[in-house]
Amino acid sequence: MLDFSKAPCFGRVEGLKTALTMLHDIKPRGTVIVETGTTRGSLGGGVEGDGWATLLFGWYCKSYEGKITTIDIVPEAIEECKEITKDYSDVISYRVGNSVEIIAKDLNEPIDLLYLDSANDPQITLNELKAAESKISNQTIIYIDDTSLAKKRPGGVCKGILAHKYLFDKGWRIVFDNGDQIIMKYKGETPSLLEKMIVGLKTKYLYKRVLRRGAL
Ligand SMILES: C[S@@+](CC[C@H](N)C(=O)[O-])C[C@H]1O[C@@H](n2cnc3c(N)ncnc32)[C@H](O)[C@@H]1O
Repeated sequence: MLDFSKAPCFGRVEGLKTALTMLHDIKPRGTVIVETGTTRGSLGGGVEGDGWATLLFGWYCKSYEGKITTIDIVPEAIEECKEITKDYSDVISYRVGNSVEIIAKDLNEPIDLLYLDSANDPQITLNELKAAESKISNQTIIYIDDTSLAKKRPGGVCKGILAHKYLFDKGWRIVFDNGDQIIMKYKGETPSLLEKMIVGLKTKYLYKRVLRRGAL
């Protein structure tokens, strides 16, 4: 059982604990984590605003011989992240730039945990996923923030709605959904026609809702 008692403070507690516990069960040491959208300080509203996943991932990687790449398009965000995560900087690769380009061009290793948490834009999240596709295996954990298919979340952005559909069609399923975040794992299941129809309609509805709200 993964012990979080020595972990630094972090938000999104349920999702982050679940994702790291799953990761630890699958591969206890030497994991590769990739995160789009980095932990910020004042720019992002602190632990409650952002979740501070980079800090927790840094702690985890330092404790279990892993490494994490965190990517942000805003240079100041990366500077804030470096300050917040300085105790774990030896296991963190900080990258400034467009997440889709960096994942596609610069990352070559197989990814064990992919955390998609950058723009509030379902199309960008889908593009990040597609850029990472050649580095993803059936063991990879895909974790997406601000997304839920289970519950109504009136203020929600649902930035992973298109990525979810893309993965669903390829046999991936949601294994965690707390109304704010989802975790998906490969199950190799071919969806029935009815399942496809339901997920297709949900996707359309939620995507339209995102566009209507002008959340992008
Ligand atoms: C919610 S924050 C990330 C929070 C962080 N994952 C955490 O848990 O603390 C989202 C970040 O994504 C960055 N971002 C938005 N679009 C991006 C893109 N296309 N490529 C890289 N970063 C992007 C923003 O600059 C912002 O800093």
